[in-house]
Amino acid sequence: MSDNRNADSGETTTGHVWDDDLADYTNQPPRWWMIGLTASAIWVVVYFLMYPAIPIATSGTFTKGIGVPGTGQWTAVKEMEADMKDVDDVRGKFEKRLKDMAPAAILADKELSEYVSRSGKVLFSDNCAACHGQNGIGTTDKQGLFAPILNDDDWLYGGTIEQIFESIANGRQGMMMAHKTSLSAQEIDALASAVAQGNPTSTPLFTEKGCVACHGANGKGMQAMGSANLADKVWRFSGTPEGIKYTITHGVNDAGDKETRNAVMPNFSAAGKLSQSDIKKLAVYVFKFGGGKASDPAPAAN
Ligand code: HEC
Ligand code: HEC
Repeated sequence: MSDNRNADSGETTTGHVWDDDLADYTNQPPRWWMIGLTASAIWVVVYFLMYPAIPIATSGTFTKGIGVPGTGQWTAVKEMEADMKDVDDVRGKFEKRLKDMAPAAILADKELSEYVSRSGKVLFSDNCAACHGQNGIGTTDKQGLFAPILNDDDWLYGGTIEQIFESIANGRQGMMMAHKTSLSAQEIDALASAVAQGNPTSTPLFTEKGCVACHGANGKGMQAMGSANLADKVWRFSGTPEGIKYTITHGVNDAGDKETRNAVMPNFSAAGKLSQSDIKKLAVYVFKFGGGKASDPAPAAN
């Protein structure tokens, strides 16, 4: 190796020489490199002054008023607060308007109705979807929640926007007593098979045993008490003869029967669970699933 050694270049060295041919020169680094280094050093000072650089528990270096005049006073929290304020300003405008409006008026107002579609989605996911399923598609009976599907046009308590608002604001709890002591097994069989065929009035038992009192003379139910329509073959709980027998035998929400079907829609006004504005938004949102009925409060029995 020592044969390939260059002749002394004449450059000055620091005097450190290793292994005879490895010397420590005192050359300047390239100019571009020095400019870069200097610029970075200046940038560090500028940045240090303008932004919170030394993390102190609640603020940065110069962000609490001790900054050099003209410094940025920027903090991530301030930036977020400014963004939030923008959002609140936009929302505040809508919230203020809908506060004094009836649900139907909100629905009719294009701008508000669109706003509600967006905020209602979050409210629904947070408060309702656990029972009614995302977008009101319902949950399976296996979960035992028996919360009705909300995106069809079959309503227990009525599908006008006012009735939907009522359901959410005050809760709903249908009541049908158990019939295990008042009816014989044969009578339950006969009633269940008539109901399963969507023709409950085909047996005289339907009138004789008082089913008409709640389900109406035609068996189509009454929205005022949420008694299901038994003539449409749309099933609240079960459409199999066994399932129907079960409903007749144990009733719905009958506190006296341990095996009763439980189906309780919570009251969302109670204890301020949701504000009136939020309930209105939800009524509009649910109505817009598409199953809502435009206008007139439906007659008690239809
Ligand atoms: C704990 C489960 C549960 C939660 C949470 C719940 N619901 Fe219900 N909801 C029910 C049940 C059960 C019924 C049916 C009550 C009955 O059968 O009497 C019902 C009924 C309704 C009805 C009436 C449907 C009809 O056919 O007339 C509407 C509307 C409704 N819920 C909307 C909502 C909205 C909106 C929310 C969220 C704010 C919500 N529900 C949260 C269980 C729930
Ligand atoms: C006190 C009122 C009342 C009486 C009386 C009554 N029901 Fe009901 N029934 C209801 C209500 C309310 C519901 C719906 C409960 C709910 O969905 O929360 C219901 C639901 C049902 C269902 C479930 C329907 C479905 O879609 O799954 C059947 C079946 C049924 N009733 C049959 C009968 C028969 C048969 C009789 C007569 C022996 C009868 N009911 C008497 C109030 C009554």
